[in-house]
Amino acid sequence: MVDFWQFITNVTAATSLLGNGSGSSATSLAAYTLPELPYEYYALEPSISSSIMELHHSKHHQAYITNLNKALEASIVALSQGNLHDYAAQLSAIRFNGGGHINHALFWPGLAPASSPDASPDAAPTLQAAIAATWGSLGRFKADFSAQLLAIQGSGWGWLVKEKGTGLLRIVTLANQEAVVVGDTPLLGVDMWEHAYYLQYLNGKAAYVDSIWGVLNWKTAEERFTGEREDAFAGLKATFVSSS
Ligand SMILES: [Fe+2]
Repeated sequence: MVDFWQFITNVTAATSLLGNGSGSSATSLAAYTLPELPYEYYALEPSISSSIMELHHSKHHQAYITNLNKALEASIVALSQGNLHDYAAQLSAIRFNGGGHINHALFWPGLAPASSPDASPDAAPTLQAAIAATWGSLGRFKADFSAQLLAIQGSGWGWLVKEKGTGLLRIVTLANQEAVVVGDTPLLGVDMWEHAYYLQYLNGKAAYVDSIWGVLNWKTAEERFTGEREDAFAGLKATFVSSS
């Protein structure tokens, strides 16, 4: 989980400042908010319909954030009261909903209208060279990535990541809302939950995968590949609002 233990450290420090105060005061420490999309809901048509984008962003992503904030608040209250048993009970909700927020916050800037130059692989010359060195060609990478996306059983995500330490490229698929492991840098991500495509593609998962290649944001991927890992999470961090 990205920054998870750092968050716990911060929470522990914050709650220690509260002493034996009531839980209600602790609940105002942190909240995540829904990021605005860098394009209109209709901007990715015909690859992704406006209705899918609106529902996906304003309802599904918002629900992860709402539930994450509730779980964070409950965990902070439990910690401030020394209730490890109640705190531990919130961890799975934080992991699931936190992962949902992390993944979607990375996903939206990873898309671009097909008419944008950012949607062309030419916007990622450094990354393209690394892909060619790894897979032989962009086409072979696309085929490999698509196959792994379609092999996901149930809900999940597929990511092209820059591996921690080696800097090598690899494809990872993750179930449900598991987030990219600490250390790796997510470059390109594809949401393989049914809510990402079903309204438009029904059971045509392969058609969705085929179509999304036209709206991936290669400029974003290039910036994530050539930049520092933490820069990839700048958009996510901007959704954090502290009222302390
Ligand atoms: Fe989603």
